[in-house]
Parts: sequence; C-alpha cells; structure tokens
Amino acid sequence: MCGIVGYVGQADSVPIILEGLKRLEYRGYDSAGVAVHNEGGLSVRKSVGRLTALEEELSERPLRGQPGIGHTRWATHGEPSGVNSHPHTDTSGGIAVVHNGIIENYQELSDALEADGHIFHSETDTEVIPHLIEHELKNGDGAFLDALLTALKKATGAYALGILSSDEPDKLYAARLGSPLIVGLGEEGYFIASDVPAIINRARRVIYLEDGEIAVLSSNGVEVFKLDGTPVTPEIKDVDLKPESAERAGFETFMLKEIHEQPRVLRALLEKNLDDSGHIAMPEISLDPNQIKKLRRVMIVSCGTAYHAAMYGRLLLENMTGLAVETDLGSEFRYRYPKIDRDTLFIAVSQSGETADTLASMRLARKKGCRILSICNVPGSTLVRESDSVIFTDCGPEIGVASTKAYTAQLLAFALLSIYLGRVRGELSEINEAEFIRALRRIPDAIHYVLERSDLVQKIADKHHDGPSALYIGRRYNYPTALEGALKNKEISYQHAEGYAAGEMKHGPIALINEYLPVVCICTKTEDEVYEKMMSNIREVEARHGRIIAVATDGDKTADKIAEDIIYVPDTREDLSPIVNVVALQLLAYYAAQSRGTDIDKPRNLAKSVTVE
Ligand code: F6R
Repeated sequence: MCGIVGYVGQADSVPIILEGLKRLEYRGYDSAGVAVHNEGGLSVRKSVGRLTALEEELSERPLRGQPGIGHTRWATHGEPSGVNSHPHTDTSGGIAVVHNGIIENYQELSDALEADGHIFHSETDTEVIPHLIEHELKNGDGAFLDALLTALKKATGAYALGILSSDEPDKLYAARLGSPLIVGLGEEGYFIASDVPAIINRARRVIYLEDGEIAVLSSNGVEVFKLDGTPVTPEIKDVDLKPESAERAGFETFMLKEIHEQPRVLRALLEKNLDDSGHIAMPEISLDPNQIKKLRRVMIVSCGTAYHAAMYGRLLLENMTGLAVETDLGSEFRYRYPKIDRDTLFIAVSQSGETADTLASMRLARKKGCRILSICNVPGSTLVRESDSVIFTDCGPEIGVASTKAYTAQLLAFALLSIYLGRVRGELSEINEAEFIRALRRIPDAIHYVLERSDLVQKIADKHHDGPSALYIGRRYNYPTALEGALKNKEISYQHAEGYAAGEMKHGPIALINEYLPVVCICTKTEDEVYEKMMSNIREVEARHGRIIAVATDGDKTADKIAEDIIYVPDTREDLSPIVNVVALQLLAYYAAQSRGTDIDKPRNLAKSVTVE
C-alpha cells in the first residue's frame, strides 16, 4: 500500500526516484509524485493515475535536483486526485512529505492546526505531518530533528515517511512506525525505500529500520535515532537478491514470469529443507523438539491467498501431526477472544510479511503466550523479525499483484512442516515420510507439464471469459484450490467468480447454474475417497446445463465425458494435488484477464502489500 523512495547523493535524484517508483508501483497506482531540492527551494510534481502520467508531466516540465523523495499511492483517505497525491507540503511549502500508512488521529491534529492558522488542501491524513512539523519548528528550538521527533510523538497510527526540508537542503529524513522502510547504502549515495527491490541495482547493503526509528541521510552518511532522540547503531545487512530478479525476463507480465518460475522455486525450496539422505531437515525451524511434543493446538492466521494456503495447511497438519488445527483470517482473528496459550503454535502466513491484520493477529497471539512460526517470503520484514521461527519461501520478489509462486511455495512449506512436526511428534513413520517426499519431488515436473499446456488453457479461457460470472468447486484439499482459483480470476479479470465447497452447492449456489455459467470443477485423482462425491456434484451441474470445465487427472475418461472442456494434470497424490492443480487455475485466470484486456500486473483498486487495516 503506497510505495516510497528517496535519494541523497551526488547524482540527479529524479531518474533514480522514477526507477525506484517503477519497481514499487505494485504497491499502489492511484497517483505518483516527486519532490526535490534545487536552487528554487523545494519543487514538487504530481500526477493522477499511473507512473507514466508523472513521467509525461516531468518530460513537459522537467525537474532536477537532490535530495529527492517520491511516492506511488494506493488511496486510503481521499479519492485519487491531484490534490490528494503525495508529496504533501506544509503551509510555507518548505517541508515535503511522502507517506505509507495511516495517521489515525489526523482529524483531531488538523483541527487544532487549522485553528492555529494552517491551511490544508487535501482530504488525506498525510497532510497533517508537514503541518505538524512546521508547527513544532515554530514552537520549539528551531532544530528540524527535534521538531520532527516532537511531531511524530503526537501522531498515532502507522507510517513510513520520507521528508525534505528547504532549511536543510543536504538532508533526507525518514521515519518508520508499523509500515516497512529500509535505508540503502550505495556507491552513489543513500536511499530510502518501502522494499529492497526498489533500489536493488543501486544499493547492496541495507538497514531495516525498526518501529519508532528515524534516519537522517546526507551525502556524508546515515544516522539513526529512536523517537526519544537516542542514537542507535543500526545493523547493516547484505542484500542477496539479484537485480534481474526484479525484471520481467522477457515475459509479457510479471505474473506470467512468476507462474513460470514455480517449478524452479519449489524444487529449490524442497531441496533446502531435506538433508543429504533425503530426510526432512527444515534447518530454519528453531523450535525446541520438546516444545513441539507438548503442543496441543495450532492456530494459522493469514489473509487473502495466504489464507487459502492456511486452509490447505490445516488439513495436512491435522492429518499428519495429530494436532487440533484452526485457521482464521487476520482481520477476523484480531478481534476475537481466542482460546490460545503457550501450548498453541501460532502460524502466520504472509508473502510480504507486512500485512497489517496478520501482524496484529501475531502480536495478539504473542501476548497470549503462543510460540510464533511464520511462513514468509521477505527477509527483514516485520513478520520475520517478530517471529520465533521462520520458514522462508525463498521465491524472490513477487511483483505481480496477484500472488502465484508465493502461494505454491506456501503450500509446499506446509507440506514440509507437516512432515517435520509429524516426525518429531512420532505421528508419521519413516516409510510414510519417504513416500511423501518421493511424491513431493515429482511436483516441480508436474507443474512443468501443466505449464506446457498453456495454449490449451488459453483457448479454454478465451471461450469462457466473457460471461458475467464463474463458479469454482472442489472438495477437501481442493476446496482451498477452488477458492484460490476464483480469487485469481476475479482479481485480475474482474469477472465475478465464486469458490465453493462442491458439497455445499445444493445449499444455495446451485440456483445460479444455467447454460451460461462456467463451472470450474477440480476433480483430480480418480481413486481418492472424495472423487466419487465430486463426480456426483459435477453431475448435478451437468443436469442443470452448466458449462463444465474440469481439472482432472491425466487419462480420466469419466471427467472427459461430462466436461465441455478439460485440463489434464499429472497424477499426484490427493494431499499434494493442490500445488499442481492451482497452476492450471492461475493460467486460466491469466488468459481470461488477457482476453478481457485488463492490466494484469496492476489490477484496479489493489495493492500488493496491505499495510493498513
Ligand atoms: C491475492 C493476493 C492477496 C494476498 C493478501 C495477503 O492474489 O495476493 O490476497 O495474498 O493480501 O498478503 P501477504 O501474503 O503479503 O500477507
């Protein structure tokens, strides 16, 4: 949600900021803006809409200078408009601010400032920050850092901020509370950014700012302070991402590239978590085996796609560890009165590690005494830093807004975790472990097989893309697959889509079925115990003339007879089949979106990292 970037050094900051914003645009694309220092003081340019609009504006009215800050917006307070775009300035125009997060008490603060003569122009919460700093500058000792510290102590909510002051033309200020922010140390200067890929080709060493920290960047270096003004010696970390991991590598979109990366990502994740003799190792898990044996419950919390991974994880963990497992959405869990304690393992699942509701849930679980294990893709993220133990999904940057490779990696992480906990708790035999791992090793090739059938999936998507709605159904392990397929479809193609447990159809959604409704039926694995049940559900659709698109196991003649269209996938054991089946649904959604002409990597109204509640 909103991306911020900033630069201080010898080079002109505008091209550097635009390059960073391009890599952050997945965080929001309602508007974009930059502010720089130059001979005339602070100069600001902003444009509504995509970053290209700002680039056009800058080619008509060029801007040079440094330091500089930039912003790409996902609107929270105030519609996407010129006046609501960042950077925001104070009354004098001498302070410019970019912000990611929400200032919760902005109304109360701006009422007081307005009464004091400050003039506000936007409907945003952010605008209060430059005015508040201006106010503290006037009423304090005149030192900018002191005014900033006092102002921030008054603001509640969440923020990652980049700030310029015309009184300090050699400095860039940054502050973090609850929203991600890094400082990059590069050859040509110092940077701030919402995430590492934004500056990956310019800085290979970074500081992950902690909540309540302020950084002051100048050409001479970086100083970090706590909100009370105490200096901090920050930890500097090397970045091991390759610059090309943030490029499209010849694919027409990031999403397509990320779909195709899945075999490689999953193979690497699997090998990392096995030992030399092929047994489960999970070297990253730092939970004490005695604690694992004492566990009574597992609570898994996450949002969106990661929640679908959690639903899958619940089934596997229940089956393989003998533990009672529950799942919830972050936005619901954080307002519950959960019965969890120190014998509960709390698992947070998040690609970004910055989702506000997941983080709040994790903190609630921490207060209740739970051990925290997270499944996360972003090293250095807030979730990673606050967890007792982490399973990294190691997908590299996921830039397409719709999650694909992170999802299958989360499913694989759950499969590995289930074996690990099952073994430690004595619920899983060595034979079963070996069999499961053999099946896991076949997954990357099975996904490859599905990817090779992209042309067929594209034809099916073209044929069905134009209806107003689609239904996705599956059972047991593939019920979350149905939900995920529907989510992918609606978020990138804007076709309304619903995922349903197939057995629930007769309790309502069957009323929707007619000869126009595409019904995507996930019915793989002919000998599993829910296959026959699934087939009965598909016949219920057939009897009402629904348009059946089946995802079925290679060679399944029964499914072929009933389905109007069929996507075959390799034979995979039922409990691992979601990792393969969902790839067919990712492609189906992808090509439906392509036929409908949407912006696949940046679907409307969405942002990749949901750092607000
Ligand atoms: C959908 C999607 C979102 C995210 C959700 C959680 O394709 O990407 O539903 O899964 O916003 O994000 P993370 O995993 O970063 O916590």
